[in-house]
Amino acid sequence: MKTLLKAQQGEVDAVFMYERLAKKVKADKDRAAFTRLAADEARHAEVFRKYTNKDLKPKKTKGIFVPLMYKLIGREKLYPVIAKGEYDAAKKYKHVVKHFPEVESVMNDEIHHVDAVKGLIYHQSTNPAVAGYLSIQGIQRLYHTKTRRTTHHCRRSQTQV
Ligand SMILES: [Fe+2]
Ligand SMILES: [Fe+2]
Repeated sequence: MKTLLKAQQGEVDAVFMYERLAKKVKADKDRAAFTRLAADEARHAEVFRKYTNKDLKPKKTKGIFVPLMYKLIGREKLYPVIAKGEYDAAKKYKHVVKHFPEVESVMNDEIHHVDAVKGLIYHQSTNPAVAGYLSIQGIQRLYHTKTRRTTHHCRRSQTQV
């Protein structure tokens, strides 16, 4: 139950964070992406709420800190950090799925979130360390997931990195 509550809190915090970030970002496609992600995280929070039967309020630290970092270090440096957070969430959920099968769709969403956030910057980045950060191939190896979408991104990243 503690794991589920922690996961729910993380999702609730992520909704708040992405909503605030969406208001802050300059590019329309970034705003659209973060608005979509906020909606996904809200759905995830609901999956966990059904297990815990508790309503949680967001802890606002990330929601304040991340938009501030957007201003201070810029999107090219910030988005890989956000993508890493999504990757870590997916990895964490891999263990939860064994006991709570409904979490599988949440985990798959987090994998797509890595892709979505990275997709906002890597095609513009000239820095290979940023462009190659958390390769989609690595995620596929980890989860044995081969969707058409990730394969497509994988091909793109190979030609552009
Ligand atoms: Fe989530
Ligand atoms: Fe996510």
